[in-house]
Amino acid sequence: MLSNYRSALITGGSSGIGFKLALRLAELELKLVLVSENQEQLIHAKKSILKQFPRCHVKVMCHDLSDHEAVEDLCVKVKQLDTDIDILVNNAGFATWGNLLDTDHNKERSMMSLMIDGTYTLSRYFISQMVSKDLGCIVNVSSIAAFQPNPTLATYGACKSWIYNWTRSISEELSELGSNVQCIAVCPTPVRTNFQKSASMDDSKLFDSPFTVDPDDVAEGIIKAIKSKRSRVVPVIWLEMAQKVTQRLPESWRIWIGKKMLERKDV
Ligand SMILES: NC(=O)c1ccc[n+]([C@@H]2O[C@H](COP(=O)([O-])OP(=O)(O)OC[C@H]3O[C@@H](n4cnc5c(N)ncnc54)[C@H](OP(=O)(O)O)[C@@H]3O)[C@@H](O)[C@H]2O)c1
Repeated sequence: MLSNYRSALITGGSSGIGFKLALRLAELELKLVLVSENQEQLIHAKKSILKQFPRCHVKVMCHDLSDHEAVEDLCVKVKQLDTDIDILVNNAGFATWGNLLDTDHNKERSMMSLMIDGTYTLSRYFISQMVSKDLGCIVNVSSIAAFQPNPTLATYGACKSWIYNWTRSISEELSELGSNVQCIAVCPTPVRTNFQKSASMDDSKLFDSPFTVDPDDVAEGIIKAIKSKRSRVVPVIWLEMAQKVTQRLPESWRIWIGKKMLERKDV
């Protein structure tokens, strides 16, 4: 199936998971559109891709996707390109860590706009084209946090639950319609990227856990999920199995485990 795809748009393609996925898709000779809000970082990402894959076609677009108008503007600009988008990856995201009352209200609102409105608006825009061609794939990056309440990552976790449930629902609707368009909810465990720093989580135990993976592992998990037409993936097989086992525990236990993992290192 992946061989039918010619192009991909990756939000948050300038670093971490998005960048590693861009490299994997460049290797497979797809045309790339990378979107994030930092122009310098985008240009750096483009140069790094071209260094490894000089023939790759990479376009960068700088948009703050927490701003609805900027998301609409992105759709208009992509429409003007000479190529349709076959794979849409809604990956841009960040977290706010701490008790709700200690978090920045405006930052949390931006996070919700980015991960919910941004994912919704871009998916809705591209899905019609994909369905009419009966070809395409929407990859929405959720998190392991989607599966339970997450004290100190409350708003982030709830956004990821929204992404997970919405994506799984759409996937089910498309398969009922007999459509070949894929929708995949990707649910990574902690990943070593800039995410930790941007969420001011350097003091959290989370990233010291044995469940922590590299962004390459997540990129590989996404590629495999596209190839095998899966609609849900926890990257790295043993972590997927561990998640399925953990899901059987009572919710109060899962909340306790989550709290322990998110604790500060000095506790
Ligand atoms: N790392 C983890 O532990 C982990 C675990 C589970 C799920 N995830 C999810 O994986 C996704 C990718 O995160 P990552 O770990 O790769 O972190 P990352 O390295 O910090 O990458 C985040 C990307 O999102 C972009 N972004 C952030 N705010 C944006 C905005 N307002 N508009 C446009 N782009 C924006 C960033 O671009 P700029 O640099 O230009 O801001 C960057 O390219 C996120 O959705 C995250 O929630 C991460």
